[in-house]
Amino acid sequence: MRTINVAVLGLGTVGQGVVKVLREHEAVWPQKCGARIEVKKALEKYPDRPLDIEFPADAIVSDWKEVVDDPEIDVVVEVIGGIEPARTFILDALKHGKNVATANKDLLAVHGQEILNAAEAAGKDFFFEASVGGAIPIIGPLRQSLIASDIQHIIGIVNGTTNYILTRMASEGVRFDDALKDAQALGYAEVDPTADVDGIDAARKVAIMATLAFHSKVTLKDVYMEGIKEITPEDIKFAAKMGYAVKLLGICREEDQQIEARVHPALIPSDHPLASVNHTFNAIFVKGDAVDETMFYGRGAGRMPTASAIAGDVVEISRNILADCCGRIKSSSRGSAKAIRTIANVNTKFFLRMVLEDKPGVLAQVSKVFGEKEVSIAMVLQTNRDGDGAELVVITHKVREGNLWDALHVIEKMPITKKIITVLRVEGEE
Ligand code: HSE
Repeated sequence: MRTINVAVLGLGTVGQGVVKVLREHEAVWPQKCGARIEVKKALEKYPDRPLDIEFPADAIVSDWKEVVDDPEIDVVVEVIGGIEPARTFILDALKHGKNVATANKDLLAVHGQEILNAAEAAGKDFFFEASVGGAIPIIGPLRQSLIASDIQHIIGIVNGTTNYILTRMASEGVRFDDALKDAQALGYAEVDPTADVDGIDAARKVAIMATLAFHSKVTLKDVYMEGIKEITPEDIKFAAKMGYAVKLLGICREEDQQIEARVHPALIPSDHPLASVNHTFNAIFVKGDAVDETMFYGRGAGRMPTASAIAGDVVEISRNILADCCGRIKSSSRGSAKAIRTIANVNTKFFLRMVLEDKPGVLAQVSKVFGEKEVSIAMVLQTNRDGDGAELVVITHKVREGNLWDALHVIEKMPITKKIITVLRVEGEE
């Protein structure tokens, strides 16, 4: 029976997880894919780093040549992360006839098309299931199981750190800073939490999903991004009163040959399946023409869940090697660059909180401006702020975002307006 030999680039948390999961299931690989699968080598920049797993010292190398020039290596698993040297290693591996599996969203969100093209030119497999949603199958479905549908939109909770923070803020009324500190203490958030809380991590995943879903190149710079730092427990409380949860959403949509790709906090109806995705869990809701609505749920991060997705790719590659059909899933985005819709041209509903003077005619003045800019109001809640004016909480009907801001710029300058507190988009309902 053939042995498929794997080299793991990077023996960090996830790299060791891949070794662990491949070893723990070694007895079943022959049955599941018709070959033995062995991790033959690991490339590690710091060969003396303490490991949680047993790994033969003579199989840990620090020179890339020892991997790429080894004719026995069939599959390279890249879990170094970041752009370089990961990009160079992957391109070089493909050129040398290796198949590649990676979890590297940073790289894919910027250089994905280049690598897909290189894999196609080499006739090799390049799989990246773990790059979006950790353990959750979403790349495979977008490239295979859902390929018969035209995808209309994807709405995802694709960052566990921010979902944990928002869950704590909603369930306990704690403020962002305190929830973040707890997330850091629990190891969910990094010491520098910028990539998570500012939406950059989620935006990378949106770029990858949009490219696959709409068969057109979408990169990180195409994704509009807002984080969750400004969200307050009061926003979440008022949203709940109106029947919504607040989540950091990654959204991509194709309409009229234009692609929307955006990440921002948004309200979502409490009865939408995404509203009950809490703590560090991720979920991705996909709507297509034939398939209708589907949702994929699970662990978006962590050693073993991420390793599960990568090892799944290794098994799939092993099957293709045995059947001599590597490289059969080609890039569907090459040569196509649909226009990206600017955020001002996106049509969506809005949730607004503003403090106005509490006197006759105020509501009429605000409504007049909304009317002039074609902003239609769907729901209004007014509360008294104990002598500090009246707080108006509004949900609009769908409106072009540029029109909404035109109205708000007029309203914020009116003498009756004390403050516009919050402007959030509302997603998940037509
Ligand atoms: N930092 C990410 C998260 C996991 O919090 O979900 C890796 O993308």
